Amino acid sequence: MNEVLTERPTSGATARDLAVQLAEVRARTRQLTETLSTEQLMGPMLPTVNPVLWEIGHVGWFHEYWTLRHVHGETSALERADRLWNSSTVPHATRWDLDLPERNAIFGYMADVLGRQLDRLGAGVDAPAGYFYELAIRHEDMHVEALTYTRQTLGYSAPERIGKAATKGVGIWPGDVDIPGGRWRLGSRPTDGFVFDNEKWAHAIDIAPFRIAKAAVTNAEFAAFVEAGGYRAREFWSAEGWAWRERMRAERPAYWLRKDGGVWVWRRYDRVEQLVPDEPVAFINWYEAEAWCAWAKRRLPTEAEWEAAALGEPTRDGSRLADVKRRWPWGDAPPRPEHANLAFECDGPLAVAACAAGDSAFGCRQMVGNVWEWTASDFVPFPGFAADPYEDYSQPWFNTRKVLRGGCWATSERIGRPTYRNFFTPDRNDIFAGFRTCAA
Ligand SMILES: [Fe+2]
Repeated sequence: MNEVLTERPTSGATARDLAVQLAEVRARTRQLTETLSTEQLMGPMLPTVNPVLWEIGHVGWFHEYWTLRHVHGETSALERADRLWNSSTVPHATRWDLDLPERNAIFGYMADVLGRQLDRLGAGVDAPAGYFYELAIRHEDMHVEALTYTRQTLGYSAPERIGKAATKGVGIWPGDVDIPGGRWRLGSRPTDGFVFDNEKWAHAIDIAPFRIAKAAVTNAEFAAFVEAGGYRAREFWSAEGWAWRERMRAERPAYWLRKDGGVWVWRRYDRVEQLVPDEPVAFINWYEAEAWCAWAKRRLPTEAEWEAAALGEPTRDGSRLADVKRRWPWGDAPPRPEHANLAFECDGPLAVAACAAGDSAFGCRQMVGNVWEWTASDFVPFPGFAADPYEDYSQPWFNTRKVLRGGCWATSERIGRPTYRNFFTPDRNDIFAGFRTCAA
């Protein structure tokens, strides 16, 4: 038991906390899906999204599989649940052709699973069992974010009641800060609470001094690259990036449409809106970030550099990184709206100058929330990696993905932790991702 607790720590959430979190994340899932039509719940077959109807059933199944069945030894309420919703065995392209129950039956299945979880939690939960509740809650958090970008991908209406309108016009936050070099401990520590297998464990990395931007690249900064012919200039693109650009015939970021009266407009959900110049550029893939960097004579930070800029502190004389690692960029206090635009605080990103109270020790802003930030790093296992019980969470994706850090406005604070490693293939321009750069 001790070994389990050391290897798979939990956040310390009580059974009551877990019950609250389960109800909260489910309310989000329902807000994002309940008002969709039957046709929208299925949607077109695309490699980047799931049929929404499949996805919500899968979320319910995941809860049932890991908590009710794995922890408590119950049987499934739906005899064919594994055959429908086990994402490890149901190939993506087949998810549109399954004999899925109809919508009310799926919502009913999800509610039934949740009800049984709440009953179990009413009797209390020990830490080894709590781990699986925390896992299933975070899994639903990830799908809540995916359901949000799915609505963008498919041009559905903006989700209602999910966050206040992002205030405009807080401005830009230009310039770099100096980060001294030194020894950095990359990854999560056993005292960090619930973490995923790919974050384990913190290990020493030597970092050379570097300069990193105080803010993410803005829409205006990215527009300058587009307007300078960046998408037509082979020299700014890697071979793979250029192949992607040619294949997609990309001329500008995915949702940008045209310049109208001097400003770019873009498709936000099902509407055309003006692009806000001071907001971070989003829906940018890794290749586009790489090309922008080549044009601007900048580079992406490695994930170790990103983490040191977000969580490190200088020694007293400023000559190197101190042997300290903050939990959040601003310190140990949990995130509040003045620190970070996280967990649907707003319904989209804020301008890059917002959330000054959340600055890191080095003065980097919005390292957490607003948009995910691509790093230069490949998604690789940390030394000593061992898969956790949800074996297919990380392992199948090593070496084919790039790491993103910091969460976005639609990420829960459980996933928006700065040490959480998100990972996507470098061609994905449908996610809430932008980037921050270092001096080359
Ligand atoms: Fe999943």
